[in-house]
Amino acid sequence: EVTRYFDPGYMNTVNCRSSIAFIDGEKGILEYRGYSIEELAEKSTFLEVAFLLIYGELPTIQQWKKFNKKVMTHTFHHNELRNMMKSFRYDAHPMGMFVSAMSALSTFHPEANPALAGQNCYDDPIARNKQIYRILGTAPTIAASSYRHRIGREYNSPRYGGYTENFFYMLDNLNDSDFKPHPVLVRALDVLFILHAEHELNCSTSAVRHLASANTDIYTCIAGGAAALYGPLHGGANEAVLKMLTKIGTKDNIPAFIEKVKNKEEKLMGFGHRVYKNYDPRAKIVRKVAEEVFEVCGKETLIDIAMELETIALNDPYFIEKKLYPNVDFYSGVIYKAMGFPPDFYPVLFTIPRIAGWLAHWSEFLDDKDKKIVRPRQIYTGHRKRGYELKVERD
Ligand code: SDX
Repeated sequence: EVTRYFDPGYMNTVNCRSSIAFIDGEKGILEYRGYSIEELAEKSTFLEVAFLLIYGELPTIQQWKKFNKKVMTHTFHHNELRNMMKSFRYDAHPMGMFVSAMSALSTFHPEANPALAGQNCYDDPIARNKQIYRILGTAPTIAASSYRHRIGREYNSPRYGGYTENFFYMLDNLNDSDFKPHPVLVRALDVLFILHAEHELNCSTSAVRHLASANTDIYTCIAGGAAALYGPLHGGANEAVLKMLTKIGTKDNIPAFIEKVKNKEEKLMGFGHRVYKNYDPRAKIVRKVAEEVFEVCGKETLIDIAMELETIALNDPYFIEKKLYPNVDFYSGVIYKAMGFPPDFYPVLFTIPRIAGWLAHWSEFLDDKDKKIVRPRQIYTGHRKRGYELKVERD
């Protein structure tokens, strides 16, 4: 069923056939390639879900071994890229570094750039998969390097091991060989990666599909998606939720904050969604992950404010009437804080897994026999047919 909708208020003029994610916003349903998000979060791993999203089926054992090996042998990145990242200011926002580094990667791989290697350079499955392995593999390394940069430490090299476990090794402060990330935290982040991997034609995925439709190289497409996700109304919302909860400070201040939201002086960050007009199914799972993380890291006090805020909002006619429910970002930031990540790193933790969804949409677009460059129309609201008259004497 082609979803074609046009709403002047939002200029949503996108029509796209896709078989990657199914969302029922009224019922709060999310499926990846037909599998429920609840079951994938419980039974799968992020890298297996990435395979499912990109290739359409869960991998056989042979496919899994090859895919895992290929991705994990592409986790290193060039020294020149490291040097470029080291040239950023000490306080550069990690997302700004991530977008720049991913875009810079296109200059390292001319063979993967249709502008240089020919319009059909992705037709060869081997060439296309090479980019998929490289981007999935290097994303956590770039992310970890941006984290190390912000704390003024040397960048860590990747080690061979589990995808998400390896990410922890590259982040670790101690950088000593005995460091072993806590298995509960590795699993918690892996589940969060599954939840953030794909979500149909959201703002950033639409950006990737727009760029892909111009046959822009995949690294620049991914950088474009990350640039969209950087926005506080999209992937930056988890960071914005933390700022909001910190600003509220105590449960006593919640009623006054809710009044400000009703007066449009504030937004309830982490609430609301263009598609979900019911509870975001991912938010329920994130809340469960939070409890597991707090068992290990200790309870994050902001969670009490978040839970009280949710209870009040869910019972307030204003939010009920506008169908505002917690979305995936409402609790994820509190978990990342408990795990010790700095707030400006949270959008990067959203970006790493969403790359799997972007790659799936890119590949799906390339295989679309009717593919055309995306060219939405506007509703023109300006003047028409005016005659020119000189307004000011110009010398
Ligand atoms: C993500 O699209 C995706 O799938 C995105 C995502 C993904 O996985 O890719 O799910 C990830 O981006 C989740 C959303 C994260 N952003 C936030 O939590 C920021 C806070 N949320 C809002 O900015 C807002 O809800 C959006 C941006 C998420 C959705 O905006 P819409 O669909 O354009 O909603 P809207 O602005 O039309 O809202 C309808 C009404 C408005 O009031 P009225 O004009 O009717 O009086 O609800 C109000 C809005 O003012 N409203 C809010 C609100 N969200 C909507 N009021 C207060 N706080 C909010 N959070």
